[in-house]
Amino acid sequence: MDATFQKNFRKKLLDWYQKHKRDLPWRRSRDPYAIWVSEIMLQQTQVATVIPYYERFLKKFPTIAALARAEEEEVLALWAGLGYYRRAKLLQRGARAVAERHGGRLPDDPEALRELPGIGPYTAGAIASIAFRRPSPLVDGNVVRVLSRVFARKGHAKDARLQKEIWALAADLVDPTQPGDFNQALMELGATLCRVALPSCERCPVQGLCAARRGGEPEAYPESPPPQKTLRLQRAAAVALRGESVLLVKPRAARWFQGLWGLPHEYCAEAPATEAALGECLRSHLGLALLRPQALPATTHAITQHRITTWAWSGEAQGRLKAAGPYEEARFFTKKELAGVALPNFDRKVLAAAKLI
Ligand code: ADE
Repeated sequence: MDATFQKNFRKKLLDWYQKHKRDLPWRRSRDPYAIWVSEIMLQQTQVATVIPYYERFLKKFPTIAALARAEEEEVLALWAGLGYYRRAKLLQRGARAVAERHGGRLPDDPEALRELPGIGPYTAGAIASIAFRRPSPLVDGNVVRVLSRVFARKGHAKDARLQKEIWALAADLVDPTQPGDFNQALMELGATLCRVALPSCERCPVQGLCAARRGGEPEAYPESPPPQKTLRLQRAAAVALRGESVLLVKPRAARWFQGLWGLPHEYCAEAPATEAALGECLRSHLGLALLRPQALPATTHAITQHRITTWAWSGEAQGRLKAAGPYEEARFFTKKELAGVALPNFDRKVLAAAKLI
């Protein structure tokens, strides 16, 4: 890469970042663990959503040792509502690995970081550059968009060849003296000005260095990926009540929410899903029947390319509760207990429709 271009790009981007960066709680910390937590939470999640979770999490688990010692269920409870619970489990497994392998301190080397559970190339680059000032690149969706525009690179955002090119460009560009600020500035530019639609090129610090801007069609980069087919799924779910308490189950194996408490449910082929589909599941695996079941309003939820509609029934549970077949555990939770449980968002919607949360 041309040295003058590199120098100009770094200076313009860093000057802009110093003036315009958002004041975010993790930017006030140099603690590698705090930066790690923030970067995991920020994956697939908006900044505004993350802030209260980040603050609560660090208050409860202020150190790697505290997180390593915690029960998985406590960690998941603090993550409740943030979604993508696998991140929380892997973060804790990562903390345990750091406690065992590295005496409780995160390594500063991106290669060593990548050997930890839950830390991929993006997170390794983020921790190494932001917390340890190592000149490591990082690439997320925002960086792909910014750099594919600056260098007018063809391909859609997830395309392996484009990804490879963008990693190489990011590695060439990263500022050796302020790598953390540089990487955050690239992401910030993507999040605030270099947006997917209607980018604010006139306010962009690197507009004079941007090939897509010169070409007059910045929005053409990256290209749109081939459309993914939406998969529609139907579920029938039970809100089984015992007084004020509601039944939750922990499945042994689950499509998305392995190890989380949730409502008993069955996936169904037909739409709308019927109550009959649930009856057998409740009877044979949980020993229960619903007395005078009431249909709740249907709720919908999106997970990756799936659109899931849940048809739910609530009613008083009759029978002696057991957990068998696909269920590892089953028990009734009071309203107060329910507030502290990490529930999948599609079940939260059902419980909200039943006015229980
Ligand atoms: N997105 C994820 N991590 C970020 C960070 N540290 N700064 C800006 N945007 C981000």
